[in-house]
Amino acid sequence: MSGAPQADLVIVANRLPVDRVRQPDGSVSWRPSPGGLVTALEPVLRANDGAWIGWPGSADEDDGFEPFEENGLSLIPVAMSAEEVEEFYEGFSNGTLWPLYHDVVAKPEFHREWWDSYVTVNQRFADRAAEVAAEGATVWVQDYQLQLVPQMLRALRPDLRIGFYLHIPFPPAELFSQLPWRRQILEGLLGADLIGFQLPGAAANFVRLVRSRVGHKTHRDTIYLPDGRPVKATAFPISIDTAGFEELARSEAVEERAAEIREALGNPRRIFLGVDRLDYTKGIYSRLRAFGELVRDGHLDVEDAVFVQVATPSRERVEQYRILRDDIEMLVGRINGDHGKIGNPAIHYLHNSYPREEMAAFYRAADIMVVTPFRDGMNLVAKEYVACRFEDDGALVLSEFAGAAQELRQAWLVNPYDIDGMKSALLEAFAADRKETSRRMRAMRRTVVQHDVSKWAADFLRELEALPEHHDKTVREPRSR
Ligand code: ADP
Ligand code: G6P
Repeated sequence: MSGAPQADLVIVANRLPVDRVRQPDGSVSWRPSPGGLVTALEPVLRANDGAWIGWPGSADEDDGFEPFEENGLSLIPVAMSAEEVEEFYEGFSNGTLWPLYHDVVAKPEFHREWWDSYVTVNQRFADRAAEVAAEGATVWVQDYQLQLVPQMLRALRPDLRIGFYLHIPFPPAELFSQLPWRRQILEGLLGADLIGFQLPGAAANFVRLVRSRVGHKTHRDTIYLPDGRPVKATAFPISIDTAGFEELARSEAVEERAAEIREALGNPRRIFLGVDRLDYTKGIYSRLRAFGELVRDGHLDVEDAVFVQVATPSRERVEQYRILRDDIEMLVGRINGDHGKIGNPAIHYLHNSYPREEMAAFYRAADIMVVTPFRDGMNLVAKEYVACRFEDDGALVLSEFAGAAQELRQAWLVNPYDIDGMKSALLEAFAADRKETSRRMRAMRRTVVQHDVSKWAADFLRELEALPEHHDKTVREPRSR
């Protein structure tokens, strides 16, 4: 029941790059899906002419699961029931793995029904990939929602080259070992030939865990399975379409829109900006508290400085996300109530998704970008801001716990748990002169220009192609000759 053309490159991700939206009149439209994974991989698929398997973001639809083309991309939807959305997506993926892999910033929950659903849905993705991949194709599985797919897919199609990339951090052994299904997850991932992580530390955590929990031999970044197949686990820090963002930022429309935004904010001396999915890992609450205290204590004046916080709605049915939203909205209300003036609120809070042009206009309008996650695999927002600052101006305040901090060393690096430290960094960035911001921005721009997402994808895929063909494949070849 394939119905889909066979593809030489197949991306498998929980979400398609577009979400299906059912209009009140019953018709269907598509809108871009949220998050960094889609931002990074969409240009990769476009350049490589492959197919993308994923969930269209709504439950219990009984039609619309035929492969289709949208905006030049070949997309293959996978269905999920309402119960699976609850147990696999909101439950195991975002109630167990997401907090566990992000330093237990929130408490992970372990439920056996959630795990059962995770296995079922992973098997569905593996089955679909097995149908769609051409003989000898490359299948690139993405992220924490699909960690069992590599092993399941290899069992079905040993001829494939299988890559896996984890977009979020991989936790240290002490945390990972809490997971009742830790061994199954490790073995699931080991179905891949190449496993990519954001940072070298994450790859090292994984290799160490495989050695201690599964007992396989390892040497540096390579794991040797009992059948002789090697699996490589190494870091490939992800990036963005730097040139695309810069081009957008340079366009007249974006320049005009940025001026309009500044004007609408009352042309303050400095605009601080936060842009995040509304997620408890992002440190939105602490950053707004830091800014609020600076205003309260008279270090910043609301006529001089304004904070714009753009918060994308995310995982809204998960309780911790609902609580976070209430907490943040209460804090914004309190700060504005205490310190705002008519026409000059201290914080402008926008709970919405915007087209990329509007995001670029925000980045152009902002003097100080504030990115303060408690833990983040990479954080593409930081890189997008840098890409848009083609005049080498603007300041970046960046958490040392974002993967991006390992590359963007010239940012004002902060510990998001240290509110006083964050306040000092915000003030320093506020007061920095053009020479200082240019020196830092120029260096960061060099990094983001040299390491863009096409390099990331090419490095990963080249490494995957270069790996020696494993045992099963060599056995199969004589039959097909
Ligand atoms: P995560 O993947 O955890 O959401 P990243 O910072 O890596 O975090 O990626 C977020 C992506 O989502 C970026 O490409 C950013 O431009 C985009 N984004 C964030 N907020 C919005 C928004 N309100 N509207 C549109 N896109 C957004
Ligand atoms: C992060 C994850 C992605 C996820 C995205 C949006 O970037 O790494 O896998 O798709 O957030 O989250 P959502 O739950 O809406 O897919």
